[in-house]
Amino acid sequence: MTDTLLGRFIVLDGPEGAGKTTQVDRLVRRLRKAGRQATSVRDPGSTPVSERIREILLDTGLPDMDARTEVFLYMASRAEMVARIVRPALEVGLVVVSDRFVSSTVAYQGYAGGLDPGPIWDLGRTACGGLSPHLTVILDLPVEAGFGRLRGERDRIESKDPAYHEKVRQGFLAMAAERPEAFVVVDAARPADAVAEDIWEAVQRVL
Ligand SMILES: Nc1ncnc2c1ncn2[C@@H]1O[C@H](COP(=O)(O)OP(=O)(O)OP(=O)(O)O)[C@@H](O)[C@H]1O
Ligand SMILES: [Mg+2]
Repeated sequence: MTDTLLGRFIVLDGPEGAGKTTQVDRLVRRLRKAGRQATSVRDPGSTPVSERIREILLDTGLPDMDARTEVFLYMASRAEMVARIVRPALEVGLVVVSDRFVSSTVAYQGYAGGLDPGPIWDLGRTACGGLSPHLTVILDLPVEAGFGRLRGERDRIESKDPAYHEKVRQGFLAMAAERPEAFVVVDAARPADAVAEDIWEAVQRVL
């Protein structure tokens, strides 16, 4: 169903501190400069309901949550974001750039959290009414390097132990290796300009 849409749906994903938010902003600016209408979303979030769900997911004041509970909360947040923002924008031809998406739930709750990735991908398609990204760019860097970049208090997910985050990183790399037609891995340990160039090159191929 994704192919009947006028617009293009691009996801930037990867471990903590990889530069996702930095590069989402840069990509949107670059797309606009190139004459494309473009907008960004952050997942989970971007609508009033989705942002409320995000607060629950990241709240360090809450006790540990079962991985399945996390999956359904992320998917509920995403369902709302896709229905209210992403799909309407794609229908009128925008390029939508998302800061994280279903691939994050597969990496964190699947590869790192111990749930089977297959059913998480299926749930993602259900939550998003069959929508899947035209391209997912994985920004890859070592776990310690990512955490070294972060400032301020860690949220509930960031607070999980380093072994968990190493599994997250390996999960992203595994899904990208399995589906090279839909994923590209960019070395995010380099300066932001070099990372932006590689992202732009990959995105241009799907515009
Ligand atoms: N290529 C880079 N080299 C060095 N520092 C960078 C690079 N890209 C971003 N940063 C800096 O690293 C920090 C984290 O970047 P950013 O918030 O974009 O990452 P993120 O992947 O969105 O993180 P999070 O997982 O917390 O959402 C910021 O202070 C940002 O300015
Ligand atoms: Mg970010």
